[in-house]
Amino acid sequence: MKKRLAILLSGRGSNFVAIADSIRAGKLDAEIALVIANQSDAPGLAIARERGLNAVALLAKGFAREEREEYDRRLADEIEKNKTDLICLAGYMRLLSPEFVRRYPGKILNIHPSLLPAFPGLEVQQQALDHGVKFSGCTVHFVDEGLDSGPIIRQAVVPVLDGDTAELLAARIIQEEHRIYSEAIALVLSGNYRIDGRRVYES
Ligand code: GRF
Repeated sequence: MKKRLAILLSGRGSNFVAIADSIRAGKLDAEIALVIANQSDAPGLAIARERGLNAVALLAKGFAREEREEYDRRLADEIEKNKTDLICLAGYMRLLSPEFVRRYPGKILNIHPSLLPAFPGLEVQQQALDHGVKFSGCTVHFVDEGLDSGPIIRQAVVPVLDGDTAELLAARIIQEEHRIYSEAIALVLSGNYRIDGRRVYES
């Protein structure tokens, strides 16, 4: 049986589209069982619907900060109803509660547009430019209870050029994101890896 992915997103959804395209092209042996957005106007949600996927808006509005766990329980209900094997955060701009993260050990992946542990959080490309790094890139990692801090599965490097703006750098990085996210998902679904401390080894 094909492994089933849940994709969580908040915006544009280009990583989600890249994953869907990898599946379509036969490069990733999986199916997208569910796309969840926490914003009803997320363009990625509309694309999921156009593609005939099971797309759900689970609106975070009305949930105060202290109700994060209640929101995440609904998220977990939706995910479990759809019997998914792996949860892929793809531009999901909401912190997950520790309770949610503990419920799915080794089953949540995230993609981040920097070479972690450099520049976690937001406005990542601007952070990279302000710091003056000569290379940046992207990271796919397991999600733990910290911010952009779990064991690293894949990274890709891109140069930072003299004329770069945050937008130009982001455009160079996103191309690599689209490539490595599917590769990392394929590795995790295959089970051909082991984690020793922070290190992820392919086996
Ligand atoms: C990507 O840069 C991803 O690394 C970050 O959020 C952005 C989402 O872009 N977590 P998209 O919605 O996949 O186009």
